[in-house]
Amino acid sequence: MSSLENNLNSQDHETPDLKQLYSPGVIDHWQNPRNLGRLTRADGHAGGPGPCGDSIWMWIKVSGNKNHEVIDQATFISDVCIGAVSCGSALTEMITGMEVQQAMQITAEMLREKLGGLPEREHHCADLAIKTLKDTIRDYHEKRAAGWKQLYQQS
Ligand code: FES
Repeated sequence: MSSLENNLNSQDHETPDLKQLYSPGVIDHWQNPRNLGRLTRADGHAGGPGPCGDSIWMWIKVSGNKNHEVIDQATFISDVCIGAVSCGSALTEMITGMEVQQAMQITAEMLREKLGGLPEREHHCADLAIKTLKDTIRDYHEKRAAGWKQLYQQS
């Protein structure tokens, strides 16, 4: 069952007190998500659903040369899952201005710490965000290795 279904089901009985369930960091990123949206002509893009059915999609723009590649811009979209939205927001904030190699070293644990923790049942939201980041960087590397393909890129 997705977190949206969980949230809706719990609202049938009683409204959960979000402040008891989530850290201030999670609530802030969920209510004021940074870097939300798609990027056109991104240098890297990946995403999709995790095992729970909720999804994260990510886009990056990269500048620099082979020895110094910097993520200039990173955006994401997600379902209404509080964990996924807060992870996408915090992670895109973390990697903006960061070298690609450095971004590859970020772990789900580091992301959870940045948010001040996540409830155990939503630990996988951070795992999904990190997987999405690594897939996005992999897509960037593949595009860079075959730059001609970008000529045919639709978005
Ligand atoms: Fe599955 Fe958040 S509950 S990604």
